[in-house]
Amino acid sequence: MPEIEISALEIPRALARDGSDDFTAANTLRNLTDDMVGVYPELTYDPVVEIAVWQPSVFEERRMLVARDQGRIVGRGDYSTTLGEDADTAWIHASVHPDYRRRGIGSRLLSELEAIAMDAGKRKVHVYVPTLPSDGDLLAAPTGYGAVPRDAAGTLFLQKHRYTFEQVERVSRLPLPVPGLHSLVDDAIKRCSRDYAVHEWAGPCPEKWRDDLALLYTRMSTDEPSAGLEPPEDVWTAERVAEQDQRLHDSTATAVYAAIEHVASGELVAYTSLMVPQQLELAVLQDNTIVLSEHRGHRLGNLLKVLNLAHLERVAPGHPSVITYNAEENRPMLSVNEAVGFAPIGYESAWKKELR
Ligand SMILES: CC(C)(COP(=O)(O)OP(=O)(O)OC[C@H]1O[C@@H](n2cnc3c(N)ncnc32)[C@H](O)[C@@H]1OP(=O)(O)O)[C@@H](O)C(=O)NCCC(=O)NCCS
Repeated sequence: MPEIEISALEIPRALARDGSDDFTAANTLRNLTDDMVGVYPELTYDPVVEIAVWQPSVFEERRMLVARDQGRIVGRGDYSTTLGEDADTAWIHASVHPDYRRRGIGSRLLSELEAIAMDAGKRKVHVYVPTLPSDGDLLAAPTGYGAVPRDAAGTLFLQKHRYTFEQVERVSRLPLPVPGLHSLVDDAIKRCSRDYAVHEWAGPCPEKWRDDLALLYTRMSTDEPSAGLEPPEDVWTAERVAEQDQRLHDSTATAVYAAIEHVASGELVAYTSLMVPQQLELAVLQDNTIVLSEHRGHRLGNLLKVLNLAHLERVAPGHPSVITYNAEENRPMLSVNEAVGFAPIGYESAWKKELR
């Protein structure tokens, strides 16, 4: 049997028009090996969006490895990390074509990804594995919230490689359009204190809010429940917000925002954003939602959610659903989502390995 070769994939500036490039082949492999994409095609990774995500950045580093059988891509390894002083973590993932499994390819990809992280001085790696709900034997998360199939390939593979299971994220789906949305918005506005004002935008962040949004993004990196994962603080600046806006513009996706200003201070204290792909058949992805801790308890999370869904309906209607990811122990956020109509469709297990 010919040797399977692993090498770095050079990320092209643009996709081949006929889809014959290696980046598109690697993207197809990711879709083929993600169990959730198989059942929910609206979750398909779109190469046009992905190529923009993978372009070089001064704020984040990404690398992709591919395993080839006589040129054909049969495995893929993803590496990403943030840069800066506290950036001690890399996020990695391996996927192997179903016809090539149990031949050690996944293990080779994983150990090369770990070596890249070690060479870069990282202290630990995190891996997220999507799984469908299962009635079979389950492995409970150490947080006490959520569980994933004990016999899934990803579970057995990561245990074999001495990763520790840390947390379960719930994947929830909201079918669109949302029935009764306008009365939900009216209710939320009625309950909102006059200390706050609402702002909305679709596309690039208005310049006057870039610093405030950068602070909210930074807080998001440490405020979410993260079990034993210990994610590093990911510091955002106005320049990084502008760079992300440019990247989104290149990807043809649109970010749809609702944000809340604390009127007395003139500062943004909460926001939520939805990532809207250009293709109508794909799901809208719920990105971050955060209310700064000093401003919690005023039902601002609920207000943001319903306002931004109504905003989405005005500026980009016609998508099948919104998909959101939340820590299974994050009851306040799950309750806000359930009240709008989100229901679970799957889970992601989060794993960690200390490298030194
Ligand atoms: C998980 C995955 C990457 C494994 O790839 P692979 O090339 O089959 O992995 P390896 O051959 O290197 O397996 C190494 C060991 O992991 C364990 N393992 C992997 N898949 C397994 C399975 N389906 N059942 C039982 N054990 C399994 C075994 O101990 C195996 O060693 P063995 O074959 O000598 O018994 C592959 O199944 C896949 O792409 N799954 C979908 C994506 C995913 O879940 N990725 C996990 C995040 S990194």
